[in-house]
Amino acid sequence: MLLIGKRLTSHESIPLDGPQGIGCATSVAPLDNPPRVIQQKPMNLIKSKKRVADHGEVFTPPWLVEKMLDLVKGETERIDSRFLEPACGSGNFLVPILQRKLAAVELKFGKSDFEKRHYALLSLMCTYGIELLADNITECRANMLEVFADYLSLEETDEFYRAAAYVLSLNLVHGDAMTMRDMDGEPVSVVEWGYLGKGKFQRRDFRLDVLTGMASFSAEGSLFAHLGKHEIFTPTTAYPPMTVRDLAGASLGEASGDAE
Ligand SMILES: C[S@@+](CC[C@H](N)C(=O)[O-])C[C@H]1O[C@@H](n2cnc3c(N)ncnc32)[C@H](O)[C@@H]1O
Repeated sequence: MLLIGKRLTSHESIPLDGPQGIGCATSVAPLDNPPRVIQQKPMNLIKSKKRVADHGEVFTPPWLVEKMLDLVKGETERIDSRFLEPACGSGNFLVPILQRKLAAVELKFGKSDFEKRHYALLSLMCTYGIELLADNITECRANMLEVFADYLSLEETDEFYRAAAYVLSLNLVHGDAMTMRDMDGEPVSVVEWGYLGKGKFQRRDFRLDVLTGMASFSAEGSLFAHLGKHEIFTPTTAYPPMTVRDLAGASLGEASGDAE
């Protein structure tokens, strides 16, 4: 998992036999208002031996995910911190990250329905994933959407539901994190979302390979070291501010404003 700017490498230091036992998922958000159990689902850590051999598909048990997320607790509880999971599976990290962010939304904006809904959407907008296998990315999008919809008590026809589905279709990429290409062979795009207030969101698209190359571009002695960040950190596309209605419309293929 990547917290944009930080990287967790603590798998080895945490014992693999957790207090709750493998296959038992329980996570509770640190929320006083109201306290609620967010997820209790049994899970399997592998789908098949073939998938383990072909794709290294072994899921991280929930208790270990929680321990790892606690290493960056402050960031997981910040609504607009950005997380990218480059092999996201069905969302074992992204789902609890979203749950923690939503708990923060509840604490900060729980009393205002308008703010609560918009900041909940911003939470979702700040979680990103890449996954090679079609069934996993589909499950991941569905799992994230379910958590979001449950939190706001949304029906599938609600604008916020459709806007969230659209955001997830962009943020959770079916592609290869090694080559940084999607399944059509196109460069993986990362959408930077921002909340401008008063119901308006800003969208700018960047290429992942360019963003991840920034560190080496600016390394001393590099051919590009003289370039300012602004010359590298240039979006491929920038859009005019969008409302939730625009985003919901975009999920149906309606125009959501021309890119600039
Ligand atoms: C070890 S599982 C981990 C899943 C999840 N991150 C977790 O911790 O539970 C690895 C996942 O990465 C996916 N994967 C393998 N190679 C990949 C690649 N090059 N790009 C994106 N995903 C990949 C697999 O399909 C699988 O879902």
